[in-house]
Amino acid sequence: MSKKAWAGRFTESNSPLFEKMNRSLDFDIKMFREDIALNIAYSKELNRIGILSSKDYLAIAAGLAELEKEIEKKGIDIFPEDTEDIHMGIESLLSEKIGDVAKKIHAGKSRNDQVATDVRMYLFNQVNKIIDELCKLLAALSNLAENNQDAVMPGFTHLRQAQPVLFSHYILSFFFSMSRDVERFSDSLDRISTLPLGSAALAGSAYPLNRDNLRTDLHFRRISCNSMDGVLSRDFLLETLSNISILSITLSRLAEDFILFSSEQYGFFDLSDKVTTGSSIMPNKKNPDSLELTRGKTGRVIGNMTGLFVTLKGLPSTYNKDLQEDKEAVFDSIETIIDVLQVTTILIDSMKINKEKMRASIDSLSFATELADFLAKSGLPFREAHHIVGHIVLDMVNQKRELTSLSENDLLRYSEYFTNIGDEWGDIEKFLAKRELPGGTGREAVKRELKEAALLLERWSLKNAE
Ligand code: ARG
Repeated sequence: MSKKAWAGRFTESNSPLFEKMNRSLDFDIKMFREDIALNIAYSKELNRIGILSSKDYLAIAAGLAELEKEIEKKGIDIFPEDTEDIHMGIESLLSEKIGDVAKKIHAGKSRNDQVATDVRMYLFNQVNKIIDELCKLLAALSNLAENNQDAVMPGFTHLRQAQPVLFSHYILSFFFSMSRDVERFSDSLDRISTLPLGSAALAGSAYPLNRDNLRTDLHFRRISCNSMDGVLSRDFLLETLSNISILSITLSRLAEDFILFSSEQYGFFDLSDKVTTGSSIMPNKKNPDSLELTRGKTGRVIGNMTGLFVTLKGLPSTYNKDLQEDKEAVFDSIETIIDVLQVTTILIDSMKINKEKMRASIDSLSFATELADFLAKSGLPFREAHHIVGHIVLDMVNQKRELTSLSENDLLRYSEYFTNIGDEWGDIEKFLAKRELPGGTGREAVKRELKEAALLLERWSLKNAE
């Protein structure tokens, strides 16, 4: 068994069971690139302040670059079994590779500021990846809405038919929900990209490091203002886990709706074979597993968020080993949300919609508000209008008649305020034409929504290209 870097004040070695519990390499290996980049930048700074000679610095930088390739190729097997974590692992592999000079690289830093820096670097890249995948999904949604502007469908509240809407309007409701997720993730980047390196264990490094050099080399946007806060704060992780949870609520809503709407009973959408599965016993089945998994994984993602909240609650100031528990939750949520976004994009790109079925499903009772609005616009107080139309609806239900089959003459028997409503009052196009205000489901209003969506997509893609 190799000697631990901190073994000097110990006389006995760790119990193997504790060693297993203490080991974080199995998951923090994900940050090997970040840890290597950090060590290169840090060694450069140590060279600048005279702790490392230029020759040593070059040997360290070259050794670390080689190590990066080796870890890429061989993965975790390259590390000895008793490696505690990625930071210790890289330092000891570097020592094996280039000799004792590697033992100089830890001067003035601690694993406390090191892990906080690594995880922020990792997160910065991953949040950008989430934004990227989210934008792809939003582009798919906007295409679907754009290409099916003629389609109408029932709109629901309480899962009961409420009023008809344009299919595009419905699809864009997801677009605009998730546009705020793009904003939330983008806003979080400034806070994530705050460099703790230089905080050392908790009190700040005793070496005259220029933290702004480190910031520039590691592509951080700013540096932390307080070394204790630098090593202890994990609010940026809570923020990301919350942002992922909020996004996953919308994805779960989409999943739930689409499971229903693609069922035999609704028949509005057909999901492609790319994202559905069969049954091991019933040859007829085509199950919406991708959507069910999306809905199901939301639970785990929210669990990761609440788990970290509970871990952090009650911790005393600065570094405590509990903080090692942050990474599994964060890695899992990130990987899960990226998978879900990618699969949902495939689902949206490959689904078919049954326009006739959607149109035919619109219940004539969902035009009842049209009647009440006509009465109110003719001068009757809306509450009275509501009451009269309520009676009409009741009659229609009892007589098993379609509400929209009522002519002007039929309606006049309920109220003289129906004068001039005409016999075509229950036409879907008329319904839509009345809702051209910004945000409404009118055909022109939805065209404006599509334009707004295109502008947002363009703005984000320009930002990403920056
Ligand atoms: N593996 C540790 C973590 O993830 C690194 C920091 C260890 N710091 C310490 N003081 N033991 O948090």
